[in-house]
Amino acid sequence: MQSPGGLISGRFHYAAGSLLSVTHLSVADVSAILEETSRIAALEISERAAMLRGRTIALLFYESSTRTRTSFELAAKLLGATTTLVSDKSSSIEKGESLKDTGLTLRALGAECIILRHFHSGAAFVLARETGLPVLNAGDGMHEHPSQALLDLRTMLTRLHGTSAARRVSERSLEGVTVTITGDILHSRVARSNAMLLPRLGARVILCGPEPLLPEDAHGLGAGIEIDRDFDHALTQSQVVMMLRIQKERLAGLELDLGDYIARFQLNAGRLAAQAPKALVMHPGPMIRGLEISDEVADGPQSATEEQVANGLAIRQALLVRAMGGMR
Ligand code: CP
Repeated sequence: MQSPGGLISGRFHYAAGSLLSVTHLSVADVSAILEETSRIAALEISERAAMLRGRTIALLFYESSTRTRTSFELAAKLLGATTTLVSDKSSSIEKGESLKDTGLTLRALGAECIILRHFHSGAAFVLARETGLPVLNAGDGMHEHPSQALLDLRTMLTRLHGTSAARRVSERSLEGVTVTITGDILHSRVARSNAMLLPRLGARVILCGPEPLLPEDAHGLGAGIEIDRDFDHALTQSQVVMMLRIQKERLAGLELDLGDYIARFQLNAGRLAAQAPKALVMHPGPMIRGLEISDEVADGPQSATEEQVANGLAIRQALLVRAMGGMR
């Protein structure tokens, strides 16, 4: 729930501008973020560089990242902010310093906002509570990746309905659009954030994968979400297909028959041409080519993977301006 002073979740109060979960955003909030994204994108470089000049933003990463970390850092720099990066390697986190103490240290050094990626679900909530700073959740364990869902939304709207449709949304913006998310749903914060956001804008979401990676209780994510374990059947109904990698680092002893997985769930040229020749293909990255997606599909005309990355830079500028209290 959003309040004038910030975000209230349970009995805690978080700084305004925090983005911890897509569930904290109303449809009007999502629309305002998209509008701000388009407004910033249209600015001259010098105007943009003045927006956060003199402000300090910290990136705190306990897990590897290429897209999220780089795009948040470049977004902050494009807006004129000073950035600092602390990663779990080569910092006092290696010596056992807690998340709370690391956050308080960054605050004492002048950080006005912290972008956090952490392996524990809920870590962004803890950091926001302990520091009182706006925190942007850049992925917390198997929980959420809210900025990814927003950049995916902007990519979908642009490809399906055109640039002007990506400026604002309503509860009906994705009516008639079926999005199939396929792969390791269980461990995917990207799947969770998208599945909790897209149906609120009218989309139908189909989750697809084998039982070990997609438990039956995934229905509990909310309304507008279905499970279909037959990928070919799901594809025939889809305007968008979002592929996910198998998160080996979170499998914890789970054995998968990769040959069987590839046969049933790989998005390859033959399957795409036969079942969904017009569908938009998305992948949050990192892609494991030859496993969940083939080279021809990843590099083909239906693929929007590079647009997703570019939209990450655009959306994250708006999220930083919002976090620093500068959104119109
Ligand atoms: N999509 C995504 O979160 O990618 P990175 O892990 O490279 O940031």
